[in-house]
Amino acid sequence: MFEERLIIVSGKGGVGKTSIAAAIARHCAQFRSTVLVTFDSQNERHPFLDVPLGYQPVVAAPGLSVLRVDALAAIREYVRRKMPFSGLYDAVLKSRMFRDFAEASPGFEELMCLGKLNDLATASKFEQVVLDAPSTGHLKTLIDVPKATLEAVRVGPLNHNARRIQDLLLDPERTRVVLAALPEEMAVTEALELRNFCRDRRMNVGPVILNQWVPDRFAVEEIENLRNLENPTDALRAAIDCSVAEFELAQSQRHAAAMLSAAGVDYWRLKRCVNHQPQALIAQLTNDIEKIVFPPHD
Ligand SMILES: Nc1ncnc2c1ncn2[C@@H]1O[C@H](COP(=O)(O)OP(=O)(O)OP(=O)(O)O)[C@@H](O)[C@H]1O
Ligand SMILES: [Mg+2]
Repeated sequence: MFEERLIIVSGKGGVGKTSIAAAIARHCAQFRSTVLVTFDSQNERHPFLDVPLGYQPVVAAPGLSVLRVDALAAIREYVRRKMPFSGLYDAVLKSRMFRDFAEASPGFEELMCLGKLNDLATASKFEQVVLDAPSTGHLKTLIDVPKATLEAVRVGPLNHNARRIQDLLLDPERTRVVLAALPEEMAVTEALELRNFCRDRRMNVGPVILNQWVPDRFAVEEIENLRNLENPTDALRAAIDCSVAEFELAQSQRHAAAMLSAAGVDYWRLKRCVNHQPQALIAQLTNDIEKIVFPPHD
């Protein structure tokens, strides 16, 4: 598991994509030189790995670097490479015509970002790339950008670039899409939709990772007994309410897992972490992933 050159982690907003991508990257870094890539434009630093985010890779741990791809930097790098001996590239990038072209060409910026991703995965010092990808809708758009480019631009460097990117993304030997979800209906529905989208394109997709799984502590009768307690004190009433809420959460988790089983989809469960310190969260998730990838012998 996780042997592919490019591991893409996506899912609904807020389900734990960034945390899970960081944990998978930590896991991969033990075996191969790995770079964790984000398109995040909001944060100055990585939210869980305590390193600054920029276009140049920064070492976060042994074997693990982190890098942010932003469209402008990717475009600059591309133009510079295409015009290596020319001092003209700044003029080109600043020219009105170029900006009009970039803004008016749907998918151009995305293609440049994907091009950088492709370079990292195929022609860099890194052996593995883990992408903390945008959420499902945006990722679907991204995956289809090379195809749209190939249809719009029939020859030349953009066509060539788009072909290489498409070859990488759709190659099940080199690319895997991991689906992150919370154990609840909406997040699982979104994960299943993305899974179908990827399977339609014959991509390598899975597993679904159900994040923030809580222990299933109460039996139905126990909750009924608690609910039927007469005249509980305020403190006891509060404890009962907490127990009922946790029981209901566990029921909704079971429902989410059953949706996946019914669709014949493998899923993993990662526990909800009680320690909210970012490094502790990533350490726990990495540890939990490792136990699934390499189950301990009894
Ligand atoms: N297993 C877990 N246990 C407890 N808290 C978690 C767990 N996984 C993630 N979190 C918390 O959930 C929140 C969202 O996680 P994260 O930022 O990784 O999600 P995301 O999918 O990347 O969000 P976004 O869509 O905004 O990029 C964070 O505050 C994180 O600390
Ligand atoms: Mg995120």
